[in-house]
Amino acid sequence: MTHPRANIGVVGLAVMGSNLARNLASREGNTVAIFNRSVEKTETLVAEHPEAGFIATRSYEEFAAALQKPRTAIIMVQAGRGTDAVIDALTEVFEPGDIIVDGGNALFTDTIRREKAVRETGINFVGAGISGGEEGALNGPSIMPGGSAEAWQTLGPILRSIAAVAEGEPCVTHVGTDGAGHFVKMIHNGIEYADMQLIAEAYDLLRRVGGIEPAEIAEIFAEWNRGELESYLIEITAEVLRQVDATTGKPLVDVILDQAGAKGTGAWTVQSALDLGVPVSGIAEAVFARSLSSKPAQRAAARDLPAGAEEWSVSDPEAFVEDVRRALYASKIIAYSQGFDAIVAGAEQYGWEIKKGEIAKIWRAGCIIRAQFLNRITEAYAADAELVALVTAPYFADAVAGALPSWRRIVAGAALGGIPTPTFASSLSYYDGLRADRLPAALVQGQRDFFGAHTYQRVDREGTFHTLWSGDRSEISAVDAH
Ligand code: 6PG
Repeated sequence: MTHPRANIGVVGLAVMGSNLARNLASREGNTVAIFNRSVEKTETLVAEHPEAGFIATRSYEEFAAALQKPRTAIIMVQAGRGTDAVIDALTEVFEPGDIIVDGGNALFTDTIRREKAVRETGINFVGAGISGGEEGALNGPSIMPGGSAEAWQTLGPILRSIAAVAEGEPCVTHVGTDGAGHFVKMIHNGIEYADMQLIAEAYDLLRRVGGIEPAEIAEIFAEWNRGELESYLIEITAEVLRQVDATTGKPLVDVILDQAGAKGTGAWTVQSALDLGVPVSGIAEAVFARSLSSKPAQRAAARDLPAGAEEWSVSDPEAFVEDVRRALYASKIIAYSQGFDAIVAGAEQYGWEIKKGEIAKIWRAGCIIRAQFLNRITEAYAADAELVALVTAPYFADAVAGALPSWRRIVAGAALGGIPTPTFASSLSYYDGLRADRLPAALVQGQRDFFGAHTYQRVDREGTFHTLWSGDRSEISAVDAH
């Protein structure tokens, strides 16, 4: 090895890693060193893409020697124990001031732990969420890096060079320190789960209630994609519904087993939100809907249970389709509103300064949840940085208000018709809960005080109270009671 030539390295050359390495190599000013545990993958990538000018390395020592200082390496391996092994190997050959980036879907608490451990060696560790799948990695993903401001100095220009571009701005920003980037990527995935489930529920209603065939539903989604619902997920839904199975000639969606998989980031979002006390009910229902779908034994056992449903006959097909569209849009607003609530709570809990408007901006292109209405989210936070709930911002409040009659008709109709709409229904319920003048939480407090002397506050007086439920049941101050 003569003098080091690469300004960036990639470790892990499965599809995401290879594509990211090719993306990096295609940008002016980048020279990319690559390393993979099995050398065959490295050789194949070099052979298939001579134009990339990769510097192929066969050991971590060679990899480190190929990189200019501060050395910067992006790890693209399956999240989990493999990530720790690569980090350990890199810290052996890197020096203080160098930068290790984990571009996998790591759990943010792992990233916090790893950042702390690596920092002790003087090396920077950055957990970066990367969204956009294989295509995004190659042509421009949305990138959510955490880590130190120092690391961002070096990393920023490199990541900006490969990120997707929305209205002239690269879809990457320094999200916050340590695990902030992976936390925000996790929430992105949670919203992704909700968005996908909402679209699936809309499809189900159009098919089962509207009696519309997949190819025609594809056209409806394509039409929706020209309006306020414009988004990558709506666009690809039309593509999926258009697809015909080559062997049977049936719509592909009819021959795909109806059991949804999950790699875990949706569940992490819900687990984290439970810990933070943030009701991400839309996201949770989306995660649970996948779980329910993947219980074949239970579903087989329950198949003959009665529906007790009423016939839902659609008298005006066009109005029905429009009702579904509006219900979808309103529910989607709730999913994003809940997702941003989780970001706010996470930022507070972990001491991150996350700019919500910036997050919406970097989600406008490259990522799976890219959507036209993210501009509206940025505008909402620009108008009011302290906005307590996205759904209360004027644009979103108006959008939901306009959708309400449709939303209620759809959720009520689905309940009467025996069609599961867990995400539509829970989103509406959340909305009604949030706007309620009084909630039955007062009764829950009474119950808690009854069986556990858990105390309660009153609407008319300061203090903490406990009622002596046996005896004369007179109310006394909890302070006096203890
Ligand atoms: C992305 C995706 C990506 C991955 C999902 C799939 O932003 O590019 O979110 O990270 O495709 O994690 O998740 P499930 O397998 O759990 O659906």
